Amino acid sequence: MGRPSSALPGRAHRSLRRGLVSREPTAGVSEIAKDTTNFTSRNVVIGNGRPTELDLPAPIGVAPPITSDPPFHAIARRLILPAFAPGPINALEPMIRELCSKLLDTMAGEDVVNAGTQYAQYIPPSVIRGMLGFPEEDIEQFLEFVHIILEGIDHPEEERIIEFEPVEKYFVAQIEEHMDSPRDDLTSYLLNAELDGQNLALEHVFGTMVLILVAGIDTTWSAIGSAIWHLAHNPRTWRGWSTSPISCPSQSKSSSASTLRSPWHDWSSMTWSTRAVR
Ligand code: HEM
Repeated sequence: MGRPSSALPGRAHRSLRRGLVSREPTAGVSEIAKDTTNFTSRNVVIGNGRPTELDLPAPIGVAPPITSDPPFHAIARRLILPAFAPGPINALEPMIRELCSKLLDTMAGEDVVNAGTQYAQYIPPSVIRGMLGFPEEDIEQFLEFVHIILEGIDHPEEERIIEFEPVEKYFVAQIEEHMDSPRDDLTSYLLNAELDGQNLALEHVFGTMVLILVAGIDTTWSAIGSAIWHLAHNPRTWRGWSTSPISCPSQSKSSSASTLRSPWHDWSSMTWSTRAVR
């Protein structure tokens, strides 16, 4: 659910207050989520701006499905669900395990490591890169893109347009390249997808690609980082995982051994922010 549209902060406030007064805090949020006449998902990143005439209008928004209002939201969401079904996602597991092992290998022998910036930060972009079919050497750029899109949200519009240029250029080039030589990845899947017998508008393809890159990277590196932080502060859980893989269903003996191989001495040096570059 995005922010209330500009004219309606009072309405949002009243809905939330009603929920709090009735001791059902989520009732107000739910009321707002269902009130699609007065509230829109067109802006989902918290910031001071409001959609302008440059933005794709509702119900599609700039990054479907997250920016789409009903009924288009369900359509845009259904469209990408096959890519996130258990089959294709489970098929990524060997690649992800190998990636994690390689990242741990790069830290071997170091007394102090930053599990946030040296490890967690690199897992999601590599996985999403593979899903979208982007070149491996571009990973550092994705960290920068996430930084531009999320952390620059409140920069003045003129600056934001300029900052967004490399993101636009990159994604347009990828779309063009995938149009020229389609392959088995999410970008080609979106380019081939159809709604009512028509291919998706290129703006839709572009917006969904950007969404997947940002949504998949920013959230997940924080979650991985937080999980490591938790383990660092809870040695019993850590030991449990390392000695009994059964207590952690997705943990195999080999991956816990790789994790423990690394000398994580200074937990306080980790960085958990969503910031990608300094
Ligand atoms: C720990 C990891 C993650 C967390 C905590 C998380 C959290 C969320 C939340 C809260 C939303 C709803 C936002 C809203 O309705 O305004 C959302 C939507 C979404 N996320 Fe994630 N996410 C995670 C990982 C991912 C990954 C790995 C991907 C893709 C590779 C992804 C793709 C999406 C997409 C496409 C949507 C839009 C869905 C829709 O509008 O129906 N997310 N995520």
